[in-house]
Amino acid sequence: MARIVVGVDGSEHSKQALAWAGTYAEQVGADLQVLMVWDNPGRDMWLPHVPPQGDPLVLTRQALRRMVDAVLGPSPTIRVEPMAVEGAPAHTLVDAAAGAELLVVGNRGRGGFAGVLLGSVSFHCVSHAPCPVVVVRGRVPGRPPASEPG
Ligand SMILES: Nc1ncnc2c1ncn2[C@@H]1O[C@H](COP(=O)(O)OP(=O)(O)OP(=O)(O)O)[C@@H](O)[C@H]1O
Ligand SMILES: [Mg+2]
Repeated sequence: MARIVVGVDGSEHSKQALAWAGTYAEQVGADLQVLMVWDNPGRDMWLPHVPPQGDPLVLTRQALRRMVDAVLGPSPTIRVEPMAVEGAPAHTLVDAAAGAELLVVGNRGRGGFAGVLLGSVSFHCVSHAPCPVVVVRGRVPGRPPASEPG
């Protein structure tokens, strides 16, 4: 069965990427793997970081579940595999795309640099993915389209 991978980070942009990927997977009859990568801030540091309240991977899994339910509904017609993992988001998405038909990401995420058209994760994906990549540039409610300043 063909597999489509989509990355979500909780942002509205990634919600739109998930919605697009869900519709497309339905149209082509593919399975949908939804990846939310928890970027451990202490991973590459010498000092131990202060862990947040609760197991971050459990919290990530819960956030992912909520997002999948909200965007695709509680009983989607396609096979959906939500995956919460720890790692560097860009590399993890590219690795997960091995053997997939398509990798789907939003053009931006939760990062805060105004005016940037493509975030570092989506940039890395279009540069390094082993399969075709779709960057979803949707209109995010309450924000101007990505091509407009502000
Ligand atoms: N931690 C993550 N797990 C899964 N997918 C992610 C993650 N971070 C980003 N993505 C995917 O990449 C898309 C673009 O996000 P990206 O992080 O590149 O933009 P940004 O947050 O605006 O910029 P930056 O992170 O470089 O400051 C998101 O819409 C999502 O599809
Ligand atoms: Mg980001």
